[in-house]
Amino acid sequence: MTLLEKIKETAAFLQEEGMIEPELGLILGSGLGELAEEIDNAIILDYADIPHWGKSTVSGHAGKLVYGDLAGRKVLALQGRFHFYEGNSTEIVTFPVRVMKVLGCEGVIVTNAAGGIGFGPGTLMVISDHINMTGTSPLIGANLDEFGPRFPDMSKTYTLEYREKAHQVAEKIGIKLDEGVYLGVSGPAYETPAEIRAFKTLGADAVGMSTVPEVLVAAHSGLKILGISCITNHAAGFQEELNHEEVVKVTQRIKSDFKILIKTILAEL
Ligand code: HPA
Repeated sequence: MTLLEKIKETAAFLQEEGMIEPELGLILGSGLGELAEEIDNAIILDYADIPHWGKSTVSGHAGKLVYGDLAGRKVLALQGRFHFYEGNSTEIVTFPVRVMKVLGCEGVIVTNAAGGIGFGPGTLMVISDHINMTGTSPLIGANLDEFGPRFPDMSKTYTLEYREKAHQVAEKIGIKLDEGVYLGVSGPAYETPAEIRAFKTLGADAVGMSTVPEVLVAAHSGLKILGISCITNHAAGFQEELNHEEVVKVTQRIKSDFKILIKTILAEL
């Protein structure tokens, strides 16, 4: 079966389950999946029950697809995403984004936990642009012409209208929201201090192990994109040591601001 056939089959399956015409896709990163619990009139599917779908293995990622109403919008939320470092193919990591497009989403909100280069723990950052240091691209291979061109333009990937709305909303509700460049790596090892010094020179404000693959596929298919990073730690070399427990702990601390911010943005997008 070709990738396109799999995408269409999965989209048809989800429609039969009642996931009809979502307006926006939500990809909820480490520790941020709780937002999906606030979705009303929810239809919830375990990843294991969805054809051609990947499996989630990281703690802090639930592994459920949740469809329903959030802040007056029809959303389709990934509670837990797929990463390269779990051994997933680029196809599996980005498959949900293709399906969101086929189901009719206009845009996606992509969230993650990230290390700060300059920004400190607890910062919420709108992604203005990214640097792909994963060493690969999910767009390698036969181009899916139905979705977009062989050589997609990445000049305006992070939709200006969405970013402006995010800042307006944050100001209105009194949440501090920064903006910066996200640099994506494959992981799973955290970076070395030398890598972080290099990334700083390259212009990165945050570093993380996700988001770039999904955004490449979203941009290819013409989806509008809002990216929000929760900075959970100073990147390597700027603090004594790094560990996943700290990442989860800081997301716990900022998740209420995060949830309010995303819901208010959704209401106004
Ligand atoms: N590096 C990469 N990924 C991350 C980090 C980090 O410091 N913090 C949270 N995710």
